[in-house]
Formats: sequence, structure tokens, C-alpha cells
Amino acid sequence: MSNGLRRKLTSYGDQGFSLFLRKAFIKAMGYSDDALDRPIVGIANTYSDFNPCHGNVPQLIEATKRGVMLTGAMPMVFPTISIHESFASPTSMYLRNLMAMETEEMIRAQPMDAVVLIGGCDKTLPAQIMAAASSEIPAIFLPTGPMAVGHHKGERLGACTDCRRFWGRFRAGEIDEAEIADVNNKLASSIGTCTVMGTASTMANLTEVMGLCLPRAASAPAVESERVRLAEETGRVAARLAMDEAAPTVRDILTPQAIRNGLVALQAMGGSTNAVVHLAAITGRLGLRLDMAELDRLGRSIPLLVDLQPSGQHYMEQFHEAGGVPALLKAVRHEIDGSAPTVHGRTIGEIIDAVIDGPGQTIIRTVEKPLKPIGTIAVLHGNLAPRGAVIKQSAASKDLLQHIGRAVVFDSVEDMTLRIDSDDLDVHPDDVLVLRNAGPKGAPGMPEAGYLPIPRKLARQGVKDMVRISDARMSGTAFGTIILHIAPEAADGGPLAIVRTGDRIRLDVEGRRIDLDIEQAEFDRRMLDVVNRPSPAPARGYAKLYQERVLQADEGADFDFLQSEELDAR
Ligand code: FES
Repeated sequence: MSNGLRRKLTSYGDQGFSLFLRKAFIKAMGYSDDALDRPIVGIANTYSDFNPCHGNVPQLIEATKRGVMLTGAMPMVFPTISIHESFASPTSMYLRNLMAMETEEMIRAQPMDAVVLIGGCDKTLPAQIMAAASSEIPAIFLPTGPMAVGHHKGERLGACTDCRRFWGRFRAGEIDEAEIADVNNKLASSIGTCTVMGTASTMANLTEVMGLCLPRAASAPAVESERVRLAEETGRVAARLAMDEAAPTVRDILTPQAIRNGLVALQAMGGSTNAVVHLAAITGRLGLRLDMAELDRLGRSIPLLVDLQPSGQHYMEQFHEAGGVPALLKAVRHEIDGSAPTVHGRTIGEIIDAVIDGPGQTIIRTVEKPLKPIGTIAVLHGNLAPRGAVIKQSAASKDLLQHIGRAVVFDSVEDMTLRIDSDDLDVHPDDVLVLRNAGPKGAPGMPEAGYLPIPRKLARQGVKDMVRISDARMSGTAFGTIILHIAPEAADGGPLAIVRTGDRIRLDVEGRRIDLDIEQAEFDRRMLDVVNRPSPAPARGYAKLYQERVLQADEGADFDFLQSEELDAR
């Protein structure tokens, strides 16, 4: 049986007194002894006025509580950090580890037999999965779901690929102030997460693929009744987990097979490059390393199947109508390990077997008739990226995937911001834009600055894409021929630090290489100046902890002391 309120007693040196005191205080809320004797399901509340992607959390919590109580357990809601992409300075990524630590410690500190983690905006589900992977109790996840699409002049609009598309048109002078203001009113037409295959959709889908939430919980729209019913059912499952001493934990669900299933789906769905960093952090919590070679191999054999922006045309509500994650898994069944377990008891294979094909749907294609013949993400190496880099080749320009160009170097995000739109900037369409000192330590927080804007003077000439390389990340909603996550980063002694404006850079996506085209002796000579360059550390607080302990992108940009096979026995 569960321990309920008896778990994790506060330390007063007298366990009987600790329980007596705990019950005395909690009875101030009006609970009966019967209620307090039940198994407890914790529900993490990530509602925040700063987080519209979580605007439906109060309703989801009510429905989850209903499911828990209908099954005979006791729901207890507790607050945690909430992170929205546009309301997190310097970056949401900088705060992901803080949310993961805080969520883990709150799960660990408070008496609960199972936990429901409700999240959605980009960094929240990854932070919660990292936390739960480091916890010893069962957990089930409930994504908040994608927002509704908007409309403008007969076109559908979705945050946030269309945010970038319209901003690019505004920068190029194609639309005026009045129209961009009108578009601004319509891009996020309801609460919920970005409705394209950005990081939020990708991570929700991966949560479902890896068996951590209910089938179809990744894609049901945020504002539809189906999502509320899924919340109720999530509460029921959580209660059953709380009552079962042998219930699986997240570590039991996240087997190597489940993670590989996630990589298969990532390649087939046109998923965000950010998922690679988050999966590396999650596997690091399990004492594993993300198999980047396998990710790349899968990208060569599994084509892009899902027709969603930014790699395709449509939005999450169409993906949901087409069958969502179960239908996607059926389309790549030959690469999926159907024996992988799930938190709700059925195997992934059983979920696939229950899929009823949607007649005539074209959103989730077949391997025989894919949207594009290549997978989503390619993993690059080369003298510029000794520990790897990634490119979302499905959202890149085909004619730039093999390219040699002159480097135009920006030393930091600030430097880029100051100079990119200058009429004096010496830049041409065939050049390669280089941004450095924008990685985990360099920025800090690895901002989504890898989507360098096309310099204004080129944008006005109609240039839509250029090769851009950096140690930064890119929003999953963005598109272009953009090489990201170069590791190690410039601020940590990586060779990106030695590139000079005017050098030649060679990109060979087919050969999976990104190289600085200079003599080896010159390369080595320049590296001597870089290796020992210290990066400045803040004087205090979380910023100091972050700078001193954050890992590189290939290790998930987690903190070194959080990546372990061992669970903390507290
Ligand atoms: Fe929250 Fe896009 S801003 S999911």
C-alpha cells in the first residue's frame, strides 16, 4: 500500500510528532481523516499569468482532480516554476535546469505516491521529464495542447512559423506597419502551445511516443473538450499508479527502446532540433548518452512524413485529425519497438494495433510516399564541430545543403544585433553568416539566436535563405539552412572561436561535415590562442551556478551534477 501523508515526514527527530503536526496543519484546509488516509497524487500547477501556453491549466487541474477522486485517491495540487518562451530573460533554456531542479525537489520533498506533471511550453515538458527521471515515484504527463489557428486575409496563421514569415516580410518592406500590427493580433488566436511542429509540439509528441502520457494527449487541441476528458483520464491513471506499489517509474518507462522510438518519430515528424538537446539531457539523467550516430542513421533511412510547418504546410489540429502520434507510429511501424512499455499499461505496439486509418488524410504520409525523401535532422561533424552539430535539413534550402562560402563573423548576439542591418555590412548572398559565443556558457543560456536574420540589405533584394552557423539553438518553428549546437561552443574552447571574416567555410550535409577551409597548420596555430581563454563567470546566484556547471549541447546543456544513473536516496 502507499504511504500517502506518511511519506517524507519533516524532520523533527520524532516521527510520530511529525505526522501529528502535519495532519494538524493540513486539517486547517478542511480535510477529513478519510481523505488524508488515501494515496496521494501530486499535481504540478504550472499556471502563470506570464504563460499563455498554459492558460488552460486550471481547467485541466480540475479535471485531473476529478479523475483522481473518482478512482479513490487524494489529489494535492502544488505550484512549480512556469516558463514561457517570450517571458524568460535571458532565455527559457537558461531556466530549464532551474525548473527541472525545483520540480524534482518538490516531488521529492512532499508526500505523494504518484505525480501528474502538466506542461506544454517549450522548456516545461523537458524540465518535468528530467525531474521525474530523477525521482523515485511514478509520474504521468499531461501536455496543455496546441492553440487554435488564426486567419488573415484568407490565409491560416499559426504561431510561430508565421510570426517569423510575416516579420521577414515586414523587414523586407513587403508589408506595412498597419498590416504587421493586424497580424500580431491574430497569430496566437487562443491559449495553448504553438500549433506548428515547433519544440512544444515535438516534445509533447515525444512524450507520447516514449509512453509517458495517454494516447493522443500530445495533439488534442488545448481548447477542446477532448483535452479535458484526457485530463480526467490522466487523473484516473495517476490514482492507479499511486495505489500500486509495483507501478513503473519514469526510469522504468524510458528504456533505450523507448528513447530510440523517440528518435524514429523525431525524424519522421519534422521535429525541432531543440529536442536533440532535451533528449540528451533526459538520457543523461538515466546515466545514458544520446546516440547521435543512431539519430543520424535513422535520418538517412526514415523520410519526413508529417506535413506540418515549418517543414510542410499544416498545423497540429490537422495532425490530430489525421490520427496524431499513434497514426505516425503506425507509419513507421517497421522501425518501432512495439514492446516498449507505457505509463498507462498498454505497450506501444498495442496502441499502434488499435489505430484506425483516417480515410483520405494526407497529413501523415507513408514511407513509400513521404513529404520529403530525407529525414528531419542530420548530425554534422568536421573541424568546426568536433563534438557535433545539427541541421534541420527538412526545413533547409535544397540548393544550399552543399555550399562553400565566405564567412561573415559576429562575435556575440549583441554584435549581430548591432551590425546585421547596417548598410555598411560587407555581406553577399553566397556568404556564410557565423554567430559565436551564443552557446550554453557564451550567451549564457544558449539562446534561439541561431536563426540569424537575413541582413536587411539582402532581404530587400529578395534573399530568403543563407547558410548560417552558430553554437546557439533555433526555435523549432524556424526554417532555413541553419547549422546549430556546434560543440564545443566558442566560449568553451571550441574551434568556432578561430573563424575570421573572409575565411571559407565548407558545408557538406550529404557528407555530414562542416569545416573551416584553411591550412591545418594555420588552424592549429589559431587554436593555441583559444584553448585557454577563460569565459567570464558571474559573481553570484543561479547565474554563477549555471556558468560553472552547465554542460555542452551534446550533453543536453544540463548541469553536470544532475546527470547520474544513481537516484538520490533522500
Ligand atoms: Fe509556448 Fe510556443 S511560445 S509553445
